[in-house]
Amino acid sequence: MLKLNQKISLSIFASLILILSVNAQNPSKTITKELEVPKYILPKILLSKNGIKINTIEKWENIRRNEILSYFENQIYGRAPLKEILPIFEIVENNSITLNGDAIRKQYKLSFKKNGKILSLILLMYIPNKKEKSPAFLAYNFGGNYTISNDTCIYVEKKNTARIIKRGKNILRWPINKIIKSGYALITLNYNDIDPDKNNFSDGIHSLFYENGTLKPKDNEWGSIAAWSWGLSRVLDFLENESLIDTKKIVLLGHSRLGKTALWAGAKDERFSIVISNNSGCGGAALSRRRFGEKVSDINTNYPHWFAKNFHKYNDKESLLEVDQHMLISLIAPRPVYVASASQDSWADPKGEFLSAKFAKDVYKLYGYRERGLNLFPKVNKPIRGRIGYHVRKGKHDITLFDWEEYIKFSDFHLKN
Ligand code: GCU
Repeated sequence: MLKLNQKISLSIFASLILILSVNAQNPSKTITKELEVPKYILPKILLSKNGIKINTIEKWENIRRNEILSYFENQIYGRAPLKEILPIFEIVENNSITLNGDAIRKQYKLSFKKNGKILSLILLMYIPNKKEKSPAFLAYNFGGNYTISNDTCIYVEKKNTARIIKRGKNILRWPINKIIKSGYALITLNYNDIDPDKNNFSDGIHSLFYENGTLKPKDNEWGSIAAWSWGLSRVLDFLENESLIDTKKIVLLGHSRLGKTALWAGAKDERFSIVISNNSGCGGAALSRRRFGEKVSDINTNYPHWFAKNFHKYNDKESLLEVDQHMLISLIAPRPVYVASASQDSWADPKGEFLSAKFAKDVYKLYGYRERGLNLFPKVNKPIRGRIGYHVRKGKHDITLFDWEEYIKFSDFHLKN
């Protein structure tokens, strides 16, 4: 016969087992508390697949960097075509003086042609009104160029005229005057123009590259994030001929899904001088293994087109990944990189974003950058400005004036010193 206290402890034990097994059966539960983060071991950045210790820049650049890049390409974002197509361009607006004489506004129509198909987009630029070349922020916008400002000269494509009501809708996210006064150009385009953000690969840039009757990318080929990243590199190709832009000083910036895009574009294309990801979260800066907020299975279910099909194999199996997102940031080394979070953006896992930035530092150290500032998670609104920058801004998922001010300071520090 069991005594009463034995019975009680048995029943506590039984309910514990039940709770644990319910959690195990419910991998889709959203983790919102630090205590619920599972134990995880991160893959080692500085150890090659064959067990070679990576302790020099040469070994990093010739062995390990390639392994990591190729893994991200084949298993996560998907391979983008190597055969580049240069856009044909038409001037929509050339050199109009604006912003009380402080800026020049330019707009170009870029068209990609291949396999009998054509894809066009409009590039909008505000450039400081001076003779010398300017450094520039390059950033996709979400809703169309006309949503970033009330400037009625911003070209609205015919297909968008119904949406003209949205002119200036996202003005608060784009402090154009401040950017210009700080000496930077702003270059932007609508990400949907490269690949419409929907689970359908029949249109957008993908459709120009299909061969032999295929109608969707192969399992290791480009999802939408890789397509948007590809688009940023093609814009940079085009800018090489723009006399007022200093293409050695292009700061790539993206918010949220476009922050994921900026990191991948910056990892792949070393011509981008600085890379900034704002609230990029899962599949961006946040560590996948923490499973905090949005998980790999959430993102692949809700946005099945963003990543390569192969990435779906890792739904609720993050420990099988040979990389984690700190390695994505390490691919940007030794170039300056900035990761930013927002305190109320738990879906994007601010701590996971910080840890990625922090654990990327081993690679920066190979190049002589010690990044001591990243030891502790900083207080809200207290930026860390090293070769790797980080801040957690007070507030929700967004890109605000505070964020921009920090990005300008960070860029000034690295580009103007
Ligand atoms: C969703 C998605 C995020 C993404 C965000 C955005 O919240 O789950 O992964 O970053 O949209 O792009 O706005």
